[in-house]
Amino acid sequence: MASGSSFSAPKGTRDVLAPESGRWAELIARFAQVTERAGYGLVVSPMFEDLEVFQRVGEATDIVTKEMYDFHDKGGRHIALRPEGTASVVRAYVQHRPTEVPWKAWYAAPNFRYERPQAGRYRQHHQLGVEALGSPDPDLDVEVIALQADFYRSLGLSQVDLLINSMGTPADRANYSERLGRWLTERLDDLDPADRDTVASNPMRVLDSKRDATRAVTEEAPTTVELLSADAAAHFERVRSGLADLGIDHRIEPRLVRGLDYYTHTTFEFAALALDSAQNAIGGGGRYDGLAESLGGPPTPGVGFGSGIERILLACDAEGVLAERGGAASAFVVDVVDGTYARRLSTELRRAGINAGRAFDGRSMKSQMKSADRSGAALAIIVGDDEVAAGEATVRDLRQGGHQDRVSLDDLIEHVRKRL
Ligand code: HAM
Repeated sequence: MASGSSFSAPKGTRDVLAPESGRWAELIARFAQVTERAGYGLVVSPMFEDLEVFQRVGEATDIVTKEMYDFHDKGGRHIALRPEGTASVVRAYVQHRPTEVPWKAWYAAPNFRYERPQAGRYRQHHQLGVEALGSPDPDLDVEVIALQADFYRSLGLSQVDLLINSMGTPADRANYSERLGRWLTERLDDLDPADRDTVASNPMRVLDSKRDATRAVTEEAPTTVELLSADAAAHFERVRSGLADLGIDHRIEPRLVRGLDYYTHTTFEFAALALDSAQNAIGGGGRYDGLAESLGGPPTPGVGFGSGIERILLACDAEGVLAERGGAASAFVVDVVDGTYARRLSTELRRAGINAGRAFDGRSMKSQMKSADRSGAALAIIVGDDEVAAGEATVRDLRQGGHQDRVSLDDLIEHVRKRL
């Protein structure tokens, strides 16, 4: 590119700067707290994997066939940037074979999908998620859903609907997919033309379509729940009664099959009612009992969810909760001597655990006081020639009436601590 051109973040990506980034940090910290309290440990896995890892999660899904960022690296390996977190975490599980049962992990990580960008839909988005592997117990599904529900509630979100469904066992799923394929084929002409090819390649994807003509047809489609085997029906019933027992409202959404092929038994999604319906899924997940095996591991049941940070924050904005909180300075050192006191006192205050700001570039007192105000500091600590001669600083309250004291430099930290 010619010199002098300017660059912007690539299409579909965003820079997150302070103070908005403060909310990201807060969200991740709260998520860590909620999940670690339940015994989930942080897992950090690579942002890219062998392409095949993701091909195993859904050879007939858009996420894998159309939206993946894949490339050959300099060693000729076919690599893909992670479009979602579950496959990577399960690959890590299969590789390391942790012995705890269930093995419970949480993550906060970016994912990449070549989608048409719009509000709430990005080419790089970030998910907070958990995966729990090694147990088929439906109460583990309930635990995972409850963690997610409680996390949203802890943020202050109240307009959130929980939709759940069951795909049944792998055999139930295959049976349903075939039945649905036949049923849709009989009604092919009534579907939106853009959805017709999908009937042959992956009939369950048609249920995800948001196109009006298709939705009118699928309204009447057979549901997975009608075709569940006895074991799968019992699993689903235990999940539902578990949620009811914990006071977690939910409703069955028969078309909720979700955009990835690995799901068996429970699937669920949380919809933020304050957001536009096309992008109101703030999180979703389900059980994926066959995934570890398809990645070369022993048969290992698993369940988890992922929740988009960007969408959670949009939902928080729409409901007016989780306000931005900048990393405000508590004290601001205004040095009108030569900057030595600003350097020394700001460092001493920070070492004492007090948020402290200062200006640079030898600016005038007036300009430094403006910066102090803008920083939100409660106290300005002013050092001029008079103060230096007396071994003191002037501490001015920026909150009310500008009350000020002269304080010995030796007592400054204690004094500031008391005044804050
Ligand atoms: P997913 O439904 O594809 O599931 O994504 C999970 C969440 O990530 C969505 O509910 C949404 O909040 C957010 N999200 C997805 N795509 C975008 C995008 N393009 N822009 C912004 N946000 C987005 C999964 O990825 C599964 N791995 C979840 C899971 C975990 N299932 C079991 N364990």
